[in-house]
Amino acid sequence: MKIIDDLNSWNSFKKTVKKGSIIGLVPTMGALHDGHAALIKKAQKECSHVVTSIFINPTQFDNSIDFQNYPSNSEKDIQFLKGLGVTLLFKPSEKLMYPYEIKASNYDLNGLDKKLEGALRPGHFQGVATVVDRLFELLEPDRAYFGLKDFQQVEVVKKVASMRKNPLKIVSCRVVREDSGLAKSSRNFRLSAKQKKAAASIFQALKFAEKEIKIFPIPPIALEREMKSIINSSGFLKVEQIEFVFADNLDLIKSQDYPLDHYQRDVQCFVSAFAGDVRLIDNYRIS
Ligand code: PAF
Repeated sequence: MKIIDDLNSWNSFKKTVKKGSIIGLVPTMGALHDGHAALIKKAQKECSHVVTSIFINPTQFDNSIDFQNYPSNSEKDIQFLKGLGVTLLFKPSEKLMYPYEIKASNYDLNGLDKKLEGALRPGHFQGVATVVDRLFELLEPDRAYFGLKDFQQVEVVKKVASMRKNPLKIVSCRVVREDSGLAKSSRNFRLSAKQKKAAASIFQALKFAEKEIKIFPIPPIALEREMKSIINSSGFLKVEQIEFVFADNLDLIKSQDYPLDHYQRDVQCFVSAFAGDVRLIDNYRIS
């Protein structure tokens, strides 16, 4: 596996690429797991060359403790990528990613960055937009792969890609889950065994919502109460937020008492919860 950390080496590689080849990028912040493996495998099937990037992006953390605590194990990640047959790893320095100032730019994301996760983590999506745009600028991939666990991030990245002079295709991939239903995430590495077991209640609550909507004309206020109780009673988790939105534009469903199954549009439910100081998120199409 070739580990590239400067632009000259990347450009030399690019010169060897045949015309008409498809270059796929899988951007990551390391702490790799099966969710990343699924993205890489999909990219390997669809592209002539796949480059995985590892860069823990400081500007997308709204809180410096979270940034400092973000799991990092370079050697383990490298072995993981070798095991998947990855041939190119881009591991840029902070200086290459942020040559002037370690600061997010200000993108017009049509308000996408202010909704849901954006409302809870101000500036987070501007940081994501800045780093993916820089990766697109440096590597010029034809496609980039992102997981739907970060559903809103996928929408943000699509918007960033569409604003580029040479737009690229953004491919989204389904959420990969543990057998318990817990969505795979780098943050799961920080959970104790008890917290990890309890964290499965997030998906249980989402599945409960899906089932409940099919049976009853249930409004958001009642469904949220039931879901909160499932998660909070796991003993090790505390719900931060449960939101119901229209899947097509992520607009919040404002009416608290109108049954969710009465809408003629798909409804996506977003959950965030804390296990100690570890923030977990998940989402699911519930109707
Ligand atoms: O999903 C992630 O790991 C990060 O947000 C990303 C897309 C690599 C940008 O830093």
